[in-house]
Order: sequence, then C-alpha cells, then structure tokens
Amino acid sequence: MSAQRVVILGTGGTIAGTGDDPGRAWSYRAAQLSVEQLVTAVPALAAVPLETMQVAQIDSKDMTWAVWRALGQALAAQLSRADVAGVVVTHGTDTLEETAWLLNALHDGSKPVVLTAAMRPATAPDADGPRNLLDAVHAVQALSARQVGGVFVVMQSVAWPAQHVRKAHSHALDAFDGGGALPVGRVDSQGVWNWSLQDAPACGGLGWPWLDMVPPRVEIVTSHADADGWVVDALVVHSQVSAQRPLRGLVVASTGHGTLHEGMTAALVRAASAGVLVWRSSKVARGGVMPREGDRWTGVPGLTASQARVAMILHLLGACVRK
Ligand code: SIN
Repeated sequence: MSAQRVVILGTGGTIAGTGDDPGRAWSYRAAQLSVEQLVTAVPALAAVPLETMQVAQIDSKDMTWAVWRALGQALAAQLSRADVAGVVVTHGTDTLEETAWLLNALHDGSKPVVLTAAMRPATAPDADGPRNLLDAVHAVQALSARQVGGVFVVMQSVAWPAQHVRKAHSHALDAFDGGGALPVGRVDSQGVWNWSLQDAPACGGLGWPWLDMVPPRVEIVTSHADADGWVVDALVVHSQVSAQRPLRGLVVASTGHGTLHEGMTAALVRAASAGVLVWRSSKVARGGVMPREGDRWTGVPGLTASQARVAMILHLLGACVRK
C-alpha cells in the first residue's frame, strides 16, 4: 500500500497568531496556537491520516539557524518513514522565502514538502490560515499520488516553486509571488489541484547534515544613493577586532540588474582584499541580476538578497550550491 500519512510540522507564524480584537486583525501576536490546534480548526482535515509535531513556536522574523537545524532533523526523520506521503510545514511569512529556498537546496526531492502560512491571525474573521492549511495538505496528497517530490509554498490556493518564491506584499492575502517565475499549481473551483510542473526546479539534494555545521557569518548590505561603503568598512573593521564568527561574506542588494554605487564598489574591493566573499543580488522585485562579461563579483540572478545569504552560507561551508 502506498504511503498515506501527512505530517504537519509547526513552527509558529501569523497562521498560529491570535489577537484580542477580531476587528483589528493587524493587532495580534504570532505563534500562539499549537499546530494541533490549527489542525483541529479545519474540520475537513479529520478525513486525512495526519500527525502533527511542534518543531518551534516563533515569529519567523526571529528565525535562526538552530530552528532550521531542528526543522531539518524533523524533516529527515519524517520523510524517511515508509508510511509518510509528505510533510506540511506551517511557518511565518516574513522569512518563508529563506526557509523555502534552504529546504529546497537540502531536500533530495523524494517526497513533497509544502510550506504554508497566513497573512491574518487565526482569530481574524477573514483568517486565511485554515484554507491555506487545507490546500497544503491536499497539495501533499496530490503530489504524492503523482509521485512528485520537491519543496513548494502554498498560499491563496496557488503553489509556488520554493526556489523562486518571495514575499511581495506586506499585508495583502496574496502576498507571495515567484519573482517572475510562474506558479506550478492552482486549486480550481472544484477544489482540485491542477499542476504545471515542467518548470518546477529540481531540489538541490545537498542533504540535511549541512545544518549540523556552524554557519559562517554572512551579512547583507544595500547599494543606494550616497552608498559610500561606510557600512562595509565598518563591518570589516569590526570583524577584524572581534574574533567570534568573523565576517566571511557579503551579499549586496544592488540597484537595477546588478549595479553598485562607486563608493560601495570601492569598499567592497577593500573587503574582498581582506578575504570577504562578495555576491550581488538585486533589490528590484523582478528580473534580478543579469550577469555580464567582466563582472567583478558573482551575481545571483534568481535569488533575493536574503535567499542569496543562505546560499552563500552553504557555499562557504563547502556545499555545491546551485544559485
Ligand atoms: C511571521 O513571519 O512569523 C509573522 C508574520 C506572518 O506570518 O505573516
């Protein structure tokens, strides 16, 4: 018999958030309800063979490598079970794009892993979490039935490829997009998932043990008007006097398709000569860096600066990262 069970790993977020005044949906605290309570609030899930596990209970703005390590360990254990079809991860929206990119890089793609979240707390009259959770569980079932693995993000009845997804609106219900990449699945009016998976990027398959290592320090800086590189010089100097986790890399959120202020460029040259690795991402919402011949620093075309930071950490640890 094929695997049927879906495991839901809870990490907190607005989907598990509560507020005192349902009329003021923006006034709430994230990460208050257990993943078990989230499941109980969706009667349709009673028909699904489910298990829940609380991996963390945080507002995802406070995400840490240690939480990622715990999540990776839970995923490794659950995905290796013969009776498990796939895993849903409930998460906050604020760092969802980083976790999704990371899990996609590490997972071997053997089974579906679907992250979901919510823009409204569970106590809001128009709470989106229950629908998103139901869609996410159904997505795992549908993908498993097609023997498709990989990492996906489900919000508002749309499935995004984990490698490209990003938060594109600070408060709209359909807050996520693919930075130009298209959705790979949609729920139709009958509640059935329809997939177009030909463009879904394959998982990196690097393996979960990378999370057991101590991450090198990589910071993000931004190029903008008057960006004279002061912050880069300050980081390098501080790193030289503080021995703990010295600065190993910088991701620059550049202007346009990868351009940098001349003052920022000069400071980055100084940082690079001090042994700091430099990559460029773009702070523009779509299109990303366009690598050009003669570029001084690697451009990471499809990644947000925060995703590029995670990619650089894995790269510096020695992993062969597809950017
Ligand atoms: C969080 O990221 O945990 C809070 C915000 C959200 O989930 O929308």
